Parts: sequence; structure tokens; C-alpha cells
Amino acid sequence: MLSYRHLFHAGNFADVFKHALLARLLVALGGKGKPYCFLDTHAGTGRYDLGHEWAWKTREFENGICRLWERKDIPAALAPYMKIVRAENPKGRLRYYPGSPLIALKLRRPGDRVVLTELNKTDFAGLETVIARERHVAAHCMDGYQALKAFLPPREKRGLVLLDSSFDRAREFARIVKALKEAHQRWATGTYAIWYPLMEPSAMRDFARSVEKSSIRKVLRLELTVGPVGDARYMRGCGMLVVNPPWKFDAEARPLLDWLQQALAVEGKGSVKVDWLVTE
Ligand SMILES: C[S@@+](CC[C@H](N)C(=O)[O-])C[C@H]1O[C@@H](n2cnc3c(N)ncnc32)[C@H](O)[C@@H]1O
Repeated sequence: MLSYRHLFHAGNFADVFKHALLARLLVALGGKGKPYCFLDTHAGTGRYDLGHEWAWKTREFENGICRLWERKDIPAALAPYMKIVRAENPKGRLRYYPGSPLIALKLRRPGDRVVLTELNKTDFAGLETVIARERHVAAHCMDGYQALKAFLPPREKRGLVLLDSSFDRAREFARIVKALKEAHQRWATGTYAIWYPLMEPSAMRDFARSVEKSSIRKVLRLELTVGPVGDARYMRGCGMLVVNPPWKFDAEARPLLDWLQQALAVEGKGSVKVDWLVTE
């Protein structure tokens, strides 16, 4: 039984962080000639109606995408992401927020392939509607961790895997590390982006240690906090590990996240971390 529904959280600061970085990763992949494969293991519904009562119940989008919507000084690095958000709202009023599948579909080139998996049947039905007219995209109602076994390595031999769990079960960090290790054994040269919420420091230390102890190299860690530390009203922050990031992605991500932190900070608080959890 899956209780998590992303519509309650769509467009919040964590989505902005995740999707801004996802867009940069896809732009970098698309900068080279050969086709790539994008696998989204926890795809969600693809598009979210911020006018829906669930989104209004939490209003998390107000401290997320709303903060960027009115800005006239969006940095160039964020332009591909914001262009997609604006294209979803052609009348100029923010109503629809694109999920990771739509971001990938908008940024891919002809020949690039998109594979989406989602376990929740209702969200999967929504996803199928969103992608109905798209070519070179396959969607499967299945467990995302099984998808890593079923679809890796991709025939293109280059690409990106987004592992964006809803963290609604216990021991999710351990499950992610196990799945990542197995996936990496199947396909060591792929790029993997793993989103996570910042939880209590001991849980984060354990997560970092278990990745460090694995044989996986080149792991970039990117983290953003936006709220006052210890304030239970807010998710403290979130992060993304990127295994095999594109060349100079660390240098590119730092100013982007610094700008986002300024834009998204609640009561002016927050911080950014960009470091190599595991080097070459
Ligand atoms: C954070 S949301 C995904 C958001 C989406 N990646 C985006 O950025 O737009 C997590 C999704 O994972 C789904 N989910 C939960 N457990 C799953 C599993 N084991 N396999 C695949 N999907 C799962 C949930 O139903 C939910 O839609």
C-alpha cells in the first residue's frame, strides 16, 4: 500500500532543487552527439495541478516554484528548467508544475530514449495520460528498484538514472544504497542522480558512510537547506548524490545552488554544500 502522493509536495523547494539539477544534467548529456537513455525509477504523474485541493492543503509550492515564478533575474543555468515551467503555463499564471518525466521529455533530442517507472496505479494512470502522444518513451507500472535490474545497462551505453524515492518506508537509505551498488555493478559508467531528504545527522552520516564504503567512485554530493535548523515546520533540506557527474558539474552547480538558496531561504536562513563524497 503506497500512501505517498507527490501532489501534496509538488513544486516545493525540494522539487525546484531536484528539477533544476536534473535539467542541468540532461542539458550536459544532450551536449554530446550520441543518443542517451534516461531512466526515472520513481516517475510520479508527470504533471501536477497546483490548483488541486491537495496542493493547497500544504501550499508547499509557495516557498518553492512561486518564489522563482515572478523573478526577472533568473540565471542562465536555470533557464532551461524555467522555460519548461513557463511552457506548462502559457497564460502567464502559475498553475501546472512539470514533474521529472516532463522535464526529460522536453529536454531530450530526437533519438534519445526515456523509460519511466511508477508503482502507484493511480499516479501511473495519470502519467500515461501525460505522455500519451510522446514517441520513444516507455512507461511501466512497476517497482523502481526492479526497473534498475530490468533496464540497465541501456543499449545506448550512455545516460542518466534518476532515483527519486518518496521515502515513505523505513530503511529507505539502506534500500537505495543496496540498489545503487547492484545497478553500478551492471552499469558502472552511467550517471546516477539520487535525491534524498535531510534527516537527523546520524542517519545522514550512516548514509554517507555506506556510500563511501562501496566500490563506487566519483560521487558528488549536493545539499540545500532553506529553513532555520531545528524548526519542525519545515523539511530541513534535501540533497542529491550524483555518481559520474558530467565534466565540471561541481563548478557549475555551486553558483546555481547559491542563487537558489538565496531565492528559497525561509526567514533568510539556509546553506549550500557541494563536495565530493567519493573522489576518483
Ligand atoms: C517523489 S515522488 C516522484 C516525483 C518525480 N520523480 C518528479 O520529480 O516529478 C516519488 C514517487 O515514487 C512512487 N513510488 C513509491 N515507491 C515506489 C517504488 N518502489 N517504485 C516505483 N515508484 C515508487 C510514488 O508513488 C511517487 O509517485
